[in-house]
Amino acid sequence: MIIHSHFDVNEKGHLTIGGADAVELAAQFGTPAYILDENVIRENIRTYLRAAAEYFGADALPLYASKALCFTGIYKIAAEEGMGVDCVSGGELYTAKKAGFPAEKIYFHGNNKTDKDISDAMDMGVGTFVVDNDDELSALSAEAKRRGVTQRILLRITPGIDPHTHKAVVTGNVDSKFGNAIVTGQAMNIVKRAIATEGVELAGLHCHIGSQIFDIEPFADAADIMIRFIADIKKECDFEIKELNLGGGLGVRYTEYDREINYAEAIRDIAAVVTGYCRENGIKMPRVILEPGRSLVAAAGATLYTVGSVKEIEGFRNYISVDGGMPDNPRYALYQSQYTALIANRAGEPRDYRATLAGRCCESGDLLGENMEIQRAQRGDILAVLVTGAYNYSMASNYNRLPRPPIIMVKDGVPRVAVRRETYEDITANDIV
Ligand code: LLP
Repeated sequence: MIIHSHFDVNEKGHLTIGGADAVELAAQFGTPAYILDENVIRENIRTYLRAAAEYFGADALPLYASKALCFTGIYKIAAEEGMGVDCVSGGELYTAKKAGFPAEKIYFHGNNKTDKDISDAMDMGVGTFVVDNDDELSALSAEAKRRGVTQRILLRITPGIDPHTHKAVVTGNVDSKFGNAIVTGQAMNIVKRAIATEGVELAGLHCHIGSQIFDIEPFADAADIMIRFIADIKKECDFEIKELNLGGGLGVRYTEYDREINYAEAIRDIAAVVTGYCRENGIKMPRVILEPGRSLVAAAGATLYTVGSVKEIEGFRNYISVDGGMPDNPRYALYQSQYTALIANRAGEPRDYRATLAGRCCESGDLLGENMEIQRAQRGDILAVLVTGAYNYSMASNYNRLPRPPIIMVKDGVPRVAVRRETYEDITANDIV
């Protein structure tokens, strides 16, 4: 096992991903390629569904935050497993629709929904809008009235929690482009407006405090603040908030320095505090919605590359260059995110070499990691970066006109193409000459 139990080494000394030989996958499908172990995704979804039902009650609903990894097949999996989804754009909604995902189980997020997004989502029958701000509330209400319908909504609230994570992914602070802060009074104002607004039915509140969080405390703190706010709403407005969406954010083990989180236990612990706070504040336990993205899909993924060059700069460092980089994984360039990498065709050998993993783009910041522990490499080796299932494909670009890699799904050791490799024809398809 390497980091997670579905990454292992076979008798040939090759890395295996969900039982499939990574070197054979690279030969069959080419590199770079995203590999996903479907069983891991389904198992993670089931863990959330089971734990949510057990600890929050049968009406609790975990949603898959599909920004983490969005393609048609993933919505099919979410639908088959009985999960809801969170979509944040017309493109995600369209993909969910293409997959036949039940629209009533979609929560539509985003801090700037356009009029077209609003009307497309209503055409689709999206179950719940998570309304971010006053302008959106007005636009949504106008469209609902025009159609003569009532749209179910949650309001995005900012509880003001700093979950001690990377600043760029903190979204629950007061100074945020997302939502309405409680401490500034904006949250109570928009609640009052929503209650009085025609065309919308205020079902509940939403908060999301950040991502890659390993501790339960920030979630407990957010729940505490949100439940006290729900009690205030009851007092001030004589209005019952029936649903509380606690967002996503549970962390994932990327390297051996990260802890492994037991998600069922985390949900149990969060449920215990939510139940306690509801009792203390004399409010009925709302229906709880959870919104994990990363923790469902990250560990399932690995990216395979081919090594093109090894450059040792005496007194400085060693560079291993691969045939992908920031276009398929911008997370080191953006957040200095740490990963585990290895040479897939010599996975059994010790990782006793230090190198910077460089992408192939014309930009010195195009790195996949620095000071990485890895096996000694040579041109033609297959290099694997592990735990790339979340926020890699979904954040990929065509920088330097590099085609996006395919997604290969492995199920019970058997691979199939879930997203085909982009071609040069695909990337020039929109150019008008
Ligand atoms: N709900 C909302 C409203 C969100 O904004 C997010 C993530 C999630 C749920 C899911 O959070 P998760 O369980 O995946 O932590 N690109 C960054 C992560 C950005 C997270 C954005 N929001 C990264 O690569 O680390």
